[in-house]
Amino acid sequence: RKQIKLGIFGLGSVGQGVVRQLHANREKIQAASGAEIILYKACVRNPDTSRNIPDCGLQISADPAFILNDPEVDICIELVGGVDIARKVILSCLRKGTPVITANKHLLAEYGAEIFTAAAETGTFLGFEASVCGGIPVIKTIRESYAGDNITDICGILNGTSNYSLSSMSGKELSFENALKEAQKLGYAEADPTFDVQGYDAAHKLIIMMGLAFNRLFDFRALTVRGIADIDIHEMRCIHDLGYEIKLIGYAAPTQDGYEAALSPMLLSREHLLASVNNSLNAVTIESEYAGINLLYGKGAGGYPTANSVITDLIDAVCLIQHQSSDSSVSLDTMRRFPHKPYT
Ligand code: HSE
Repeated sequence: RKQIKLGIFGLGSVGQGVVRQLHANREKIQAASGAEIILYKACVRNPDTSRNIPDCGLQISADPAFILNDPEVDICIELVGGVDIARKVILSCLRKGTPVITANKHLLAEYGAEIFTAAAETGTFLGFEASVCGGIPVIKTIRESYAGDNITDICGILNGTSNYSLSSMSGKELSFENALKEAQKLGYAEADPTFDVQGYDAAHKLIIMMGLAFNRLFDFRALTVRGIADIDIHEMRCIHDLGYEIKLIGYAAPTQDGYEAALSPMLLSREHLLASVNNSLNAVTIESEYAGINLLYGKGAGGYPTANSVITDLIDAVCLIQHQSSDSSVSLDTMRRFPHKPYT
């Protein structure tokens, strides 16, 4: 096919970033995907809100049926967040065989069984690079670079808002409340920042990474989760003076009889690889039997970095559609690049 029509749910900062990047880089994206991607329809809560997007012919409505009942929509992008509407939208698309791209870590971590099963049963593409650590290619790296290796542990700073707050408390001696307000002003926090500060946002990302790293579905409710809300500035200062930093860390590793995993503030000595990851930056270390240790580091929050991850998934989805509609059978290489079953 030469044209691919997009239906986008949600035009917040990530959605607007997707529209702007697709419009600005349309020639490059067309060359990479082999098709012209049409910004066709968007569904938003309030169509009258003013948005920073180019004039690209995007039709906007508040009614999900505007996209879901339109057979011309080739790919859906879900950027609404939360689990109610997003779950209905994603399941409806997957059951019809419409490829879906989502940034929704909450949904995938807590309703992963239902969502991944729907994708696997219909063999439909489900891209979720943007759900973990914004612009850092964590999902692709775990999925593609360790296909023949065994990951022995993953460890990371997975939430920009809490890392920004902890860095500001340690470096600028801001109170927790003021540090969080700054992070919110800079647009890193979730609509409800309790998910950031209580550790749930990072815990959702950890569960998704664990699923891919260890090839099984983990129960989110079994994970130990502790946030940063009860860390005070005096405690931070003492710890800093002793040569340590407090970081909100997600950690998971296989053990002899299962897995150990936790999401909790931890003390890192100043020499630790993750101790100098400051402000809203995220970082993940992945250790494996054969490759040893790798470090991924970058912008884990924010409209543009997250939009870029959506677009890399989009290019994969378009390539897959092109490939499936061509006469050739799906090659092994394609299957490796587009696994439909992230968990078995
Ligand atoms: N609120 C999240 C964070 C955004 O602060 O990291 C990306 O998930």
